[in-house]
Amino acid sequence: MTTDYNVIGEQYRVGRQQAWRRHIEFYTMMRLIGNPAGKHVIDIACGEGTYSRALMEAGAASVIGVDLSETMVQLAAAMEAERPLGIRYQVGDGRNLGFGPQFDLAVAGFLLNYARDRAELEQMCRSIAQCLRPGGRFLTVNASPLCNFPSAPSFRKYGFEAATPPELYEGAPITFTIYLDGSQFNVENFHLSPATHEAALHAAGFHDIRWHKATLSPEAESMFPPGYWDDFLSMPPIAFIDCYR
Ligand SMILES: C[S@@+](CC[C@H](N)C(=O)[O-])C[C@H]1O[C@@H](n2cnc3c(N)ncnc32)[C@H](O)[C@@H]1O
Repeated sequence: MTTDYNVIGEQYRVGRQQAWRRHIEFYTMMRLIGNPAGKHVIDIACGEGTYSRALMEAGAASVIGVDLSETMVQLAAAMEAERPLGIRYQVGDGRNLGFGPQFDLAVAGFLLNYARDRAELEQMCRSIAQCLRPGGRFLTVNASPLCNFPSAPSFRKYGFEAATPPELYEGAPITFTIYLDGSQFNVENFHLSPATHEAALHAAGFHDIRWHKATLSPEAESMFPPGYWDDFLSMPPIAFIDCYR
């Protein structure tokens, strides 16, 4: 299976409302980004533009959102038309972005996990490095290379499940089923080890590579019963990587 966001785009937009996305993924990512005021930002694999909008609203000097899927870019552009923030969206491939070193910050929500092997991962990392000025920062969240999905707790109560071969290997498919009210859809990612990620990032010229754990927003701690997030946080299915060019 390959994931075609032109087909699942609208379902993806709805699935983005799941609580873990707001209270863990988005919360952690924005906390790690810190203050983007005055920064020129590229949001790679921008999807329907959640991070692009958040960064523009937080004071970025400019934001360009790029995504491989026309449907996702159209969804993002429709929201921009409805509530103009000055974000530019365009169709583009994270493996070959074609920008010069003009950005201070590159963010990528769930791009690297589409790389099937080390070569493709390195292609993405090089393409991202090329669009950052020296000293520029790359921050990304992905299906976690640190998570042993075959032995992880079920994530069903959070609205999704992961299916994998009994043991992970380089390039092993991870099929996520995302459950919505009355429907469901799949996305397929690929497992590449933490060492492969670090090697690809180093080869592309990144340094100071740090892995960050998913954290829960303080707001969610009071909104959900005690222990509700324990399964998610005991073996987080997402991980954050932070590095500099
Ligand atoms: C799970 S969605 C994430 C969207 C958005 N970053 C978010 O966090 O909501 C993954 C996105 O990656 C895009 N994508 C996959 N491969 C890509 C590539 N090679 N270049 C650019 N975008 C890609 C898909 O079209 C999809 O919109």
